[in-house]
Amino acid sequence: MTTPRIAYVNGRFLPLEEATIPIMDRGFLFGDGIYEVTAVIGAHFVDNEPHLTRLDRSLSAIGIRNPHTTEEWVALQRELVQRNGMQEGVVYIEVTRGTFEREFTCPEDIAPNVVMFTQARSVLDNPAAEKGVAAITVEDQRWARRDIKSTALLAQVLAKFAAKAAKVAEAFMVEAGVVTEGASSTVFIVTNAGTLVTRPLSNAVLPGVTRRSVMRLARETGIHVEERLFTRQEMLAASEVFYTSASAFVMPVTEVDGERIGGGQPGPVTRRLRAIYLEEARKG
Ligand code: PDD
Repeated sequence: MTTPRIAYVNGRFLPLEEATIPIMDRGFLFGDGIYEVTAVIGAHFVDNEPHLTRLDRSLSAIGIRNPHTTEEWVALQRELVQRNGMQEGVVYIEVTRGTFEREFTCPEDIAPNVVMFTQARSVLDNPAAEKGVAAITVEDQRWARRDIKSTALLAQVLAKFAAKAAKVAEAFMVEAGVVTEGASSTVFIVTNAGTLVTRPLSNAVLPGVTRRSVMRLARETGIHVEERLFTRQEMLAASEVFYTSASAFVMPVTEVDGERIGGGQPGPVTRRLRAIYLEEARKG
């Protein structure tokens, strides 16, 4: 008999099938909530502190009280991972504004709903990262506060369906010819001169936790890093393209919109950054 997956809902650890929230939950009705995803490797939570800091920042940006201290969040994450016996995968946290009659506003003091679950998967050994993956570009159709990690992800869901229909791994969102970010990732290019380029932080993109670590590691390795806008055209002409996220780490992209990037293989800068990021993630 396999043990059931255990989820966490508002103070209780329950088998997934029993882990439910009311239909009047504002996350369900309005996408009125915030989420975070942290990778787990063995006993280590990869870059967990900045994920929990961003959770707090996102909640405060939309006026939801953070129901837990960082220490409490870490204890809940650890217990959940332990109860599921998960060695490798991700832990998901969602906090919604709470449950109330469906009205656009609600009292400020209603209790937030907290949901957590694990997704066991092999994050270290990823065959796609050896070969590289393909991506498409789509128009960025999102709202103006993309720096908030909101559960309102309809534009990203549609972008991912477009990627699925095109049989590629990721959709890169483009606004007036300029790349914003992936549907669930940060986009980087390596220019022919070997400079690592990614878009600067603003309301237009999520401040990626993996982005920050990869930029730091790149600088420590002596790679020149530039934060500036880049266009779809510049991306297509780049010598390397990759994307980063908590679940994909550093993912080489060898084709965009059917056009080959560089030599059509994961490039040396991408390989190096993936290797050193994983080395650090493993060590904890
Ligand atoms: N997504 N940009 C967007 C729009 C994202 O959704 C994500 C992550 C990132 C990368 O951020 P980070 O490196 O902090 O994971 C950038 C998560 C993994 C998800 O939605 O599943």
